[in-house]
Amino acid sequence: MEFLNNFVLPQSAEHIELLHYMLLILLFLFIPFISIVFGGTILSIIYDKKGSKENSDYHSRLAKEIIEITTINKSVGFILGVAPVFTAIIIYSQLLHNSEITNLNYLVLALLSVTVALIFIYSYRYSLSFNNIFTSISKKDLSDRIVLEDVNKLSDESHRISKKAGIFGVVFLFIGLWFFVTAITIPSVYTNWNADSFIVGMFSWDVVSRFIFYLFFALTLTGGMILFTFLEDEKKKRIKDEEYSLFVKQKIIRVTFYNAVFIPLFLLIILFGMPENSLTGTVFTYSIFSLILLFFGYHFLYLLTKQIKGTTAALLFFALIFSIAAFIISDQKAMMTSTKFHSAILSAEFDNYFAELKGEGIIIEINAAELYEVRCASCHKWDQKLVGPAHNDVLPKYLGNEAQLVAFIRNPVKIDPEYPPMPNPGLKPNEADAVAKYLLETYESRK
Ligand code: HEC
Repeated sequence: MEFLNNFVLPQSAEHIELLHYMLLILLFLFIPFISIVFGGTILSIIYDKKGSKENSDYHSRLAKEIIEITTINKSVGFILGVAPVFTAIIIYSQLLHNSEITNLNYLVLALLSVTVALIFIYSYRYSLSFNNIFTSISKKDLSDRIVLEDVNKLSDESHRISKKAGIFGVVFLFIGLWFFVTAITIPSVYTNWNADSFIVGMFSWDVVSRFIFYLFFALTLTGGMILFTFLEDEKKKRIKDEEYSLFVKQKIIRVTFYNAVFIPLFLLIILFGMPENSLTGTVFTYSIFSLILLFFGYHFLYLLTKQIKGTTAALLFFALIFSIAAFIISDQKAMMTSTKFHSAILSAEFDNYFAELKGEGIIIEINAAELYEVRCASCHKWDQKLVGPAHNDVLPKYLGNEAQLVAFIRNPVKIDPEYPPMPNPGLKPNEADAVAKYLLETYESRK
């Protein structure tokens, strides 16, 4: 994806943070939507097959209603299914500019697969509705036998084609989502940055466990959404067939339950598999929050098995939506932590670029404290290690040896194996002098 690098502008630290939040919002839109489309298509295909096999009208009707509920309509499919992946490519290429992380290839493949998948899925959806028209014609008491036969034949043919489209759609979406999950997982998991190869990246345990988690969540969320929409429709009295209504509720509650039970297991696997670098307090808190919301979801699901009520279904659906949102935040926080080092390099590049734009060479009074805040404080604290060591631990050896400190700041060398190497902060000689003096003086005065 070399060409993407050419589009990228240097970003200030504030912009980088903003990009992280944009990414978060985009995932909030994309992940729930695409999960529901995925789950809805699978359920619809299964019920449609059952409907044909057992000649059960209820199953066929449910198949059609599910795909209509879950795919909303074509334009929503494009806005929530394709546009976010495209935007994610642009954001990631900014955030990970010049890094060794190679998640853009996966994202581009995800974009292609998801687009193809949605085309198939929407053809499935519209042809299924179309198909129902045939079925209803052939059910009418047609006096002309020949016409009836023709209509039946046409109906079978169109049904066969629509089923194929549905299956292709699911397969492409499955692959597309796998690429997507790989792409968003790699930057969150520091140790995976240098995945040995394209395939190893996809099959690494971090990626696979997240992918399975998302699959179970997709089906659970789909169940929640169907129950919610279905009960809403019922409230508005659009569905009058009591027996059918009971059939749907029982089926969907069961599907939702069987998928929901596996989620906590994978959530914990993901959490405990996270490398120490990424697993901060915030990440942990959001994951636990996600788990708690999920347990609320279980509770509402349980209530639904006792008594079917619209408000309970709504609560179930929202508990699930917020649970997945909390998980997304947790994963993105992990990414912010593991790319912090890289972000600091990028914003240092920005500062250089900006200084060049302003025109250097003019003697400006150097404000060492400010320079330190901007260039160093993102990685260092005085009494606590951050990305780099605490100053209090390393400065003693430079007391009375300022020149060596200046040399290190101007051209950092690898020192402590516990830390990654410090990137060159790109200071000019006089700036490095000022910062070194500032560090030693502050150290003395803090004693
Ligand atoms: C991107 C993060 C990052 C930034 C920005 C950064 N450092 Fe560091 N710094 C590190 C890391 C990581 C180490 C540990 C390097 C090692 O031990 O090899 C380090 C080590 C040091 C050390 C200890 C060297 C030693 O002898 O052990 C000093 C002093 C230091 N940094 C000063 C600075 C100053 C001054 C700035 C700002 C001009 C700065 N750092 C900016 C990450 C950073």
